[in-house]
Amino acid sequence: MTVTTMDWNAQIERIRAAKDSTALDALELQMLGRKQGVLTDALKALGSVPPEERKERGRELNEWKEKIVAALAKRRQELGHASLSRLAEDDAIDVTLSLPDSAHASIGHLHLIPEFIRQIEEVFGRMGFDVAEGPEVESEELNFDMLNIPENHPARDMQDTFWIDELPGYVLRTHTSPVQIRYMAEHTPPFRMICPGRVYRKDADATHSPMFHQFEGLMVGRDISLAHLKAILSTALRELIGRDVEFRFRTGFFPFVEPGLEMDMLWQSEGDKEGEGRWLEMGGCGMVHPNVLSNGNIDPEQFRGFAFGFGIERLLMIKHRIKDLRVFYEGDVRFLGQF
Ligand code: PHE
Repeated sequence: MTVTTMDWNAQIERIRAAKDSTALDALELQMLGRKQGVLTDALKALGSVPPEERKERGRELNEWKEKIVAALAKRRQELGHASLSRLAEDDAIDVTLSLPDSAHASIGHLHLIPEFIRQIEEVFGRMGFDVAEGPEVESEELNFDMLNIPENHPARDMQDTFWIDELPGYVLRTHTSPVQIRYMAEHTPPFRMICPGRVYRKDADATHSPMFHQFEGLMVGRDISLAHLKAILSTALRELIGRDVEFRFRTGFFPFVEPGLEMDMLWQSEGDKEGEGRWLEMGGCGMVHPNVLSNGNIDPEQFRGFAFGFGIERLLMIKHRIKDLRVFYEGDVRFLGQF
């Protein structure tokens, strides 16, 4: 190959058409490589050109070399820009794009019972209530005796209580009230606490489940009265239900309170007209019985307190106008997904 036969314009075209920097590198080596670059070779070959032509050919070759170097630099720059803008295009995130429904469904959320328990803790927490816990397998002594429930009381009846064959003297707690005794034994009044948790009874229909949730409340001090109970309960329940619900107190008997009250709320299901509905028992409350204070090592001559125990599922039935509490445990996402 001689200087004259080489079509330098064609070489420059190849540079301009190089599709990426690897191709460009190869072209650069082919043309300017020290060992076998065609332009390097052509410059070396100048030596054998007759002296009268050498100067002219040398000038021409150097001009081509400059053009090739410039073309290489220009193409390199173009390719660099292109790869940057390709990167910008490939990695772009369209923030206006909406997600498919399946992406939403996979996020999930708490079941409405633990969700509601958190809310209960928050609402009472704001009113200064501590959150207490107790075991679900409880001694008969704490579940009944210490709460002033006598040996022959129907609550101990085989029909209500789950007894544990392997563990005589223990039951699956039938209410959260034994936590009252546990808490009293460990705290000095004045204090106020709530205790949400699972409880167990042999009961199963649309408004009863063998396992359900309650939350207990206990407030003890020197001058606590039923007025405090009523004020705190009505404030908290109105906030928890999220609207004004009608409720009423009736006298009721629980061995561990005196006087004792039952609280009902008006339960209206979807189709009910205003004023329709039926009273659903939410739970019991009252002034802590002096015997119970004594069992908790608190002097009933100095301190008084109120206690309450409410069914969490029942509150949720009122809140969401649910007819049958069994839906809480069926795990049907079509139901659970609504909350
Ligand atoms: N423990 C009672 C129940 O389960 C409710 C209750 C709690 C009543 C505290 C009075 C005081 O039915």
